[in-house]
Amino acid sequence: MNDKTVKDTHVIMHELILPNDTNLLGNVLGGRVMHLMDMCAAMSAYKHARTAVVTASVDQMDFLAPAKMGDIMILKSSVNYTGKSSMEIGVRIESENPKTGDMYHTSSAYLTFVSINDNGKPQGVPMVIPETAVEKRRFDEGEQRYNQRRDRLKKG
Ligand SMILES: CC(C)(COP(=O)(O)OP(=O)(O)OC[C@H]1O[C@@H](n2cnc3c(N)ncnc32)[C@H](O)[C@@H]1OP(=O)(O)O)[C@@H](O)C(=O)NCCC(=O)NCCS
Repeated sequence: MNDKTVKDTHVIMHELILPNDTNLLGNVLGGRVMHLMDMCAAMSAYKHARTAVVTASVDQMDFLAPAKMGDIMILKSSVNYTGKSSMEIGVRIESENPKTGDMYHTSSAYLTFVSINDNGKPQGVPMVIPETAVEKRRFDEGEQRYNQRRDRLKKG
């Protein structure tokens, strides 16, 4: 199994926020943001594993600022850390005001995806190779979160 770099898993998605995506205040709906985040992270997982994948968990997600109707949402994701069959994907979302170009951080989250074989069972994924200082920091932090999740799951 060939190891992959973090760079191999980079995904950038753009989405224009339309009226149907918003609440009465004209702010994007949280569920819409979560859906886009899941799609973006899934594509990073596909690029890494090149197999079917499922979302196993989403760590805490905070909505830091409202994205408004007409804004451009920019989602960026990549694999932070790999276990045996699981991958932690980090997603960062920014919104861009289309008239001014101002950008602001809307939300971030860590999602865990698991590679699934033809029998519906977890299967091994290549190890992710962090190359830059930032990628190495995210890898180390991802490993800590992976261990914390395993402890939480063991406790039930
Ligand atoms: C995720 C799933 C495949 C794990 O299956 P399982 O039989 O519990 O597998 P295991 O206990 O052997 O765990 C396999 C890996 O998943 C990880 N994992 C399992 N549950 C997890 C969770 N809730 N959060 C994070 N990671 C999890 C384990 O840590 C392990 O990682 P590793 O192989 O890198 O060490 C299974 O729980 C499942 O299918 N869940 C439903 C997924 C789904 O329908 N998602 C929504 C639609 S895509």
